Amino acid sequence: MINIYSSLSKKRDSASILAKSLENPESGNINNPNKSRVIVITSGKGGVGKTTTAANLGMSMARLGYRVALIDSDIGLRNLDLLLGLENRILYTAMEVLDGQCRLDQALIRDKRWKNLSLLSISKNRQRYNITRQGMTNLIQSIENLGYQFILIDCPAGIDVGFVNAIAPAQEALILTTPEITAIRDADRVAGLLEANEIYNVKLIVNRVRPDMIKSNDMMSVRDVQEMLGIPLLGAIPEDSHVIISTNRGEPLVMKKRLTLSGIAFENAARRLVGKQDYLINLETPYKGIFKRAQDFFFGSENVD
Ligand SMILES: Nc1ncnc2c1ncn2[C@@H]1O[C@H](COP(=O)(O)OP(=O)(O)OP(=O)(O)O)[C@@H](O)[C@H]1O
Ligand SMILES: [Mg+2]
Repeated sequence: MINIYSSLSKKRDSASILAKSLENPESGNINNPNKSRVIVITSGKGGVGKTTTAANLGMSMARLGYRVALIDSDIGLRNLDLLLGLENRILYTAMEVLDGQCRLDQALIRDKRWKNLSLLSISKNRQRYNITRQGMTNLIQSIENLGYQFILIDCPAGIDVGFVNAIAPAQEALILTTPEITAIRDADRVAGLLEANEIYNVKLIVNRVRPDMIKSNDMMSVRDVQEMLGIPLLGAIPEDSHVIISTNRGEPLVMKKRLTLSGIAFENAARRLVGKQDYLINLETPYKGIFKRAQDFFFGSENVD
């Protein structure tokens, strides 16, 4: 595994990234409650869990009481609507809004379960995708003006025009990777591109983690992945067959009454993202986290940063 380190372009220094994010007043609005936090969820490599993460973080944050808008910027291959069970309700997309064929609120679909959660698809059809970086920025600005506290942009795979447009309005980014070298290398490339685009407030989610394989030394640990990339860790999500079941039902995992391990991990990441919690769930002893959560609820949480 040692030569894996040399295959990455450079080891990012998370302290310097954090310092830059503090220097740059535009990089995140954590301290300004009147502005939306616009966060792009990206990965480089496809199929590592961006859309699953967008659906679960969005739903979890809405359940915590925040106004959240989810933007599906994957065109032609969009599927955030399916994961949320909203596929039959999409009549208009951002393309019709920009063409003046409908109002923004007609394209922004409200979830019936949580009315403070909305979804906007950029385009249903690859042929009709002609949004520019400026168009994307203007669109997000209009959503900000509607009073959403969080705007999560689900980015398409790759680093071509879809990626470039999706990151344009963002001040923060979540980078998704699995503990595989191909995904890690692409995540590293994306981290470099984000930095080049002055997005310094970047956090990492490691998905599809298998503690049994880590134990038997067949998979890199979350810590290994985090150290290789040098990006602060927001969460680690285990491999879980319930993810597929929930996708097919159009019900994000975090909605289940009895949370599975991956549901707990997504909820933990959402709470960390909104600043309500700062410990990480240990995937081998996740229920310790639940106890701590109940304790926080009853006795208030303490900062351990
Ligand atoms: N933690 C997990 N456990 C099991 N399956 C998972 C997990 N996370 C994601 N998956 C599965 O992996 C597949 C890809 O997930 P998803 O669509 O969220 O990835 P993506 O990064 O958005 O893909 P794309 O780059 O194509 O947009 C889906 O079938 C999903 O159900
Ligand atoms: Mg996707």
